[in-house]
Formats: sequence, C-alpha cells, structure tokens
Amino acid sequence: MKNKVTKAIFPVAGLGTRFLPATKSIPKEIMTLVDRPLIQYAIDEARAAGIKEFIFVTSRGKGALEDYFDHAPELESSLRKKKKKALLNVLKNTNMDSGAIAYIRQHKPLGLGHAVWCARRLIANEPFAVILPDDVIAAEKPCLQQMVEAHAETGGCMVAAMEVPPVKSSAYGILDVREDMGSMVSVKGMVEKPEPGEAPSNLAVIGRYILTPQVLTNLTQIKQGAGGEIQLTDAIAQEIEADRGVYGYRFRGQRFDCGSKAGYLQATVSFGLARDELKGELMDYLDELATTRRAAQ
Ligand code: UTP
Repeated sequence: MKNKVTKAIFPVAGLGTRFLPATKSIPKEIMTLVDRPLIQYAIDEARAAGIKEFIFVTSRGKGALEDYFDHAPELESSLRKKKKKALLNVLKNTNMDSGAIAYIRQHKPLGLGHAVWCARRLIANEPFAVILPDDVIAAEKPCLQQMVEAHAETGGCMVAAMEVPPVKSSAYGILDVREDMGSMVSVKGMVEKPEPGEAPSNLAVIGRYILTPQVLTNLTQIKQGAGGEIQLTDAIAQEIEADRGVYGYRFRGQRFDCGSKAGYLQATVSFGLARDELKGELMDYLDELATTRRAAQ
C-alpha cells in the first residue's frame, strides 16, 4: 500500500510581473474569477483530493493572502444578525482548521524549485502535492483527485500533462515519453521550453505535481539554472535518470493559464458562463459582441 498524499505545497512567492500594476499591492492569487480568488479554487481542489495540510510558500506583500484564510469576526456577526445563512456558508469555505495551514517565507524569488525546497522541513518521508494556483482547472472530478487516484497505483513522481499544439511547445516543459499507457505515460526525459520541431512530444507539464521526498533532497544539490532560477523540472529529471518512476498524467478537464492576461480573461468568461445566475446575461452580451464585430468586418 502506497503512502497517502495528505500535504500540498502552494508556491505563491512569485512576483506576478505580468499583472503589474495590479500585483504591486495585490497578490496574484487573490485576483478573482467571478467572485472567488484563484487561491480558493486551488484549495477546493486540494480538499477534494484528500489534502489535510496546506503549506504556502509566500513572500513580501502577500499579507492579503494570509488574511483571506482567517476568520472575519465582525463580518460574520453582522451576517449572522441579518440571518444571511448562504453568505455565512460561503465564508465557511475560506476558513482553515487550526494547524492545517502553514506559511513559509521564500526570501528571494529564486524560482519554483527553490520555493518548493523552502517547505522541505514540513514534509516528512511521504509523497506530497504541489499546486500552482495560477493554473486553474475546470473538471468534473478535480484534477488533483484524478492524479492522487492514479498515483495510488504507480507511486513515484507524477506531473499533470496536457496536449499542446507544436507552436506552443516553447512555453512549456515537454515530456519525452517512454511508454504511452493512455491516461498515463511513463517519462524518459523532460525538455524545458523546446522550439517547435524540437519538442519530443506534444505533452506539456502544467501546475500539478505529486512528488516524492527524494525530489526535495535533489533540490538541495541543484544549482541555479535557466534564468538564474532553481528549476523544479531539474530535480524531477534526476528521478528519471535514477529510474525511480516519473509519470505524466493526462487529466480530464480544461486548464486556464491565469498567470497570463489572455488565460485569465478566458477563465473569467468560462467560469461566468458556468454560473446559473450569470450565464443568461453574459451569453447575451457575448452574442451581441460577436454580431457587432462581424458587422464591422
Ligand atoms: P511564474 O513563472 O508564473 O512567475 O511562477 P510569477 O512571478 O508568479 O509571475 P510573472 O511571470 O512574473 O508574471 C509560477 C509559480 O511559481 C511560483 C509563483 O508564485 C507561481 O505560483 N514561484 C515562482 C514562487 O513561489 N517563487 C519563485 O521564485 C518563482
């Protein structure tokens, strides 16, 4: 029986420069899709997958993120007085049990690998998940839950994988596939941001991982790589070299890159259309917009 995955690391210490000036004072993860911050989608997905301990790697200026998970006594008592039960329930989902959440500081933005490594003392000898909250995934069964179930069979390291068109390969880490087993592939290499034509497959790694504690040991030895950053990919690649089992998991669902403006806007529209109370008005607006644009062409 493999170890259960009960801890997740949320690296949220990046500078979020693509969203400046907003991210000068608001953490990127607090930006909202409809009415919920990106981080809430990530937390809900982790909870659905059975995660019990939530580890945030933060940095300067992320105070709003820490406050978000606190109780808001004045707001709650005012809603209670007004008998606003539904809103009280909405707030309930934002609270964390005492001791379930931990914050670790990454003092310098030295990359995703370094951010994960900063949390090493909170991980024991057990597999753990890493969730990048800017990758928001709409799925019937939440993506991490799909992965945890698959990981119970395989063990080792697992990365979420998504098919991308060849022209987009240079924006992702791309998997070199040893064996394709359908929803899962075993991996024999990973190429960071290959030019179109040089990508070993069309399977890109996106922001969900289940990793073994050995990856944290690998990170301890890894020097700064591309862009002066310590890359998580390099530490996972060492697991491939040591033949300890690295898998790509083709999740079922739609991923939005909310770290980019275009992806964030697409997610806003898509999550808006998924809400019963908004869908009619939003659809009318989109139809009208399409008609006006067609007429103008
Ligand atoms: P990104 O590559 O999106 O970088 O990081 P970023 O700083 O957040 O955003 P831009 O590119 O400047 O707009 C991917 C994930 O890794 C985390 C980020 O918070 C994000 O969740 N990260 C990145 C860290 O926690 N620390 C780092 O040093 C770098």
